[in-house]
Amino acid sequence: MCGIAGYIGGGDSTAIVEDGLSNLEYRGYDSAGVAFVGERLTVEKQTGTIDGIDIPTNNDISQGIGHTRWSTHGEPTDANAHPHTDCTSSVAVVHNGIISNYDDLKAELGGHVFESETDTEVVPHLIEEELTAGYDFVPAVRRATDQLKGSYAIAVTHADKAKLVVARQDSPLVVGHGEEGMYIGSDVTAFAEFTQRVSYLEDGDLAVIADDDVTVYNDGQQVSRPIRQVDWDTSAAEKAGHDHYMHKEIHEQPHALRQALSGRINDLEGTVDLDIDIEGTFGDCEFVEIIACGTSYHAGLCAKRFLESHTDLAVSVNIASEYEPAHPHRATDTVALAITQSGETADTLAALRDAKAVGMRTVAVTNTVGSTVTREVDESLFIRAGPEIGVAATKTFVSQVATLTLLAVAVGQHRGTLSAGEATDLLESVQALPSAVQSILDTEAEIRETAEDHADGEAFFFIGRQLGHPVALESALKLKEISYDHAEGFPSGELKHGPLALVTPNTPVIAFLTDATDPRETLHNAKEVESRGAPVIGLSTLADADTYCAETIDIPEIGVLEPMVANVAMQLFAYHVAKLKDRNIDKPRNLAKSVTVQ
Ligand code: F6R
Repeated sequence: MCGIAGYIGGGDSTAIVEDGLSNLEYRGYDSAGVAFVGERLTVEKQTGTIDGIDIPTNNDISQGIGHTRWSTHGEPTDANAHPHTDCTSSVAVVHNGIISNYDDLKAELGGHVFESETDTEVVPHLIEEELTAGYDFVPAVRRATDQLKGSYAIAVTHADKAKLVVARQDSPLVVGHGEEGMYIGSDVTAFAEFTQRVSYLEDGDLAVIADDDVTVYNDGQQVSRPIRQVDWDTSAAEKAGHDHYMHKEIHEQPHALRQALSGRINDLEGTVDLDIDIEGTFGDCEFVEIIACGTSYHAGLCAKRFLESHTDLAVSVNIASEYEPAHPHRATDTVALAITQSGETADTLAALRDAKAVGMRTVAVTNTVGSTVTREVDESLFIRAGPEIGVAATKTFVSQVATLTLLAVAVGQHRGTLSAGEATDLLESVQALPSAVQSILDTEAEIRETAEDHADGEAFFFIGRQLGHPVALESALKLKEISYDHAEGFPSGELKHGPLALVTPNTPVIAFLTDATDPRETLHNAKEVESRGAPVIGLSTLADADTYCAETIDIPEIGVLEPMVANVAMQLFAYHVAKLKDRNIDKPRNLAKSVTVQ
């Protein structure tokens, strides 16, 4: 995730902003930059690490902003790094989030010179327009941000003004109140070493920050945001207060999902716009061959269900290391769809090259702009989850599935195979995901108790039908990789064909009992294991699941994607089982985040 740090006051501005950026390095980034105001505005930025930036040393500098960028629009290049400036080099802007209407705004800004491919660069030019029209700095920023759609935390500095202006919508921004100046940060980590007196901005806030005070406006009215004393352990700062990156990333899922969806759904028309050539890629194909490994393979299994239910395409899902083109003689009718968080997995790249070699069109669904896969495919679709540092994939799985749901809607609509009602159901379900996931995160204390009750199980079995099946596989993978316990996922109906022999009173069975996954059938299978003494944990939207379940975790009703919400409960379950066993959660034994060998 991108990071913002900033300062205005009598302290050593350049050192404070540089330290702030270093404190934010834990978020992951591919480029970084700073803007300082002294006698003039100085901007320094580049790809790579903060250390490489030429930080100015002049002592007339009294304010500055800095940014660490994780690319979402445009490759990681020097030009795409923040800050971005206007045509007069008077205004500099850093931004976290996604401005979803930047294409339209850019088209309206004819005559302005753009130097990057980013969505952010429209902001300084919009501010410049308002300044040229005669507005002062603060109203100019307000009038510019009023035109933005999407999510943003923005910090703006001006060559001639002794103030910073910041604004927030769906992306966090905090203000630090120090003895010698005021700080800004995308989280407290940015400045906790300098001050722990903090006010949190809210959506719609625009704040004017001088060296000794802050004035906050919302919807044109002055509002007050209380100053709180936070007790911030700076040694835990890099994980933003979480014990592990995995825990932090589990909790980032509502935000990651909002980023995945931002600007891609037209609610009025019920359509999807994905920035890829749907007609050229899927317009006349017949087959889709999905290629992926591990968690990404499970996302592929989910995608197959959506694509086959809502399009006339024949879809296969292939473990990349096993892949052979299924229809080499029909290659021009086939799309190879590689799903890879890192974009660097050797097995996936090798399979993709095989698909290309026989002449298939290629698409990557990935988290990593500029990764190897994006350089080798015809089209890249980004999941926008932000960097994932824990080895176990969490937020990238849910972001992959959300993005692939949108892809299924786009392809189904384009091919005329998806009815308006089906599209509405899918889009409503995917848009309900962020809040539903948050509601599960809010029940973490209860899920931890469930983990404590069952951590000593000999083995764990996860059962589900339809979309509940790939999610059962994914939940089992998460538990086995971080707790080192034996865990398996099965289609519920398969238990009685063999695995039931493994079931004992010491093998917890976790059942996915959500609405669109034939929960009554799975409940019957739960009865089969319950009668053999196994404790059943039901992840359920059913009112009567406790008939056969020793415990139930209620899943909010959001339609077809309910299993994805249940999956988050199982990520927390796996996390707490592993924590109780004192496992190396972020770096489980024998595993690597990016598997670059075949
Ligand atoms: C599991 C996990 C792995 C990856 C797999 C593919 O938690 O992270 O199974 O999903 O190695 O990695 P990507 O998606 O980067 O190709």
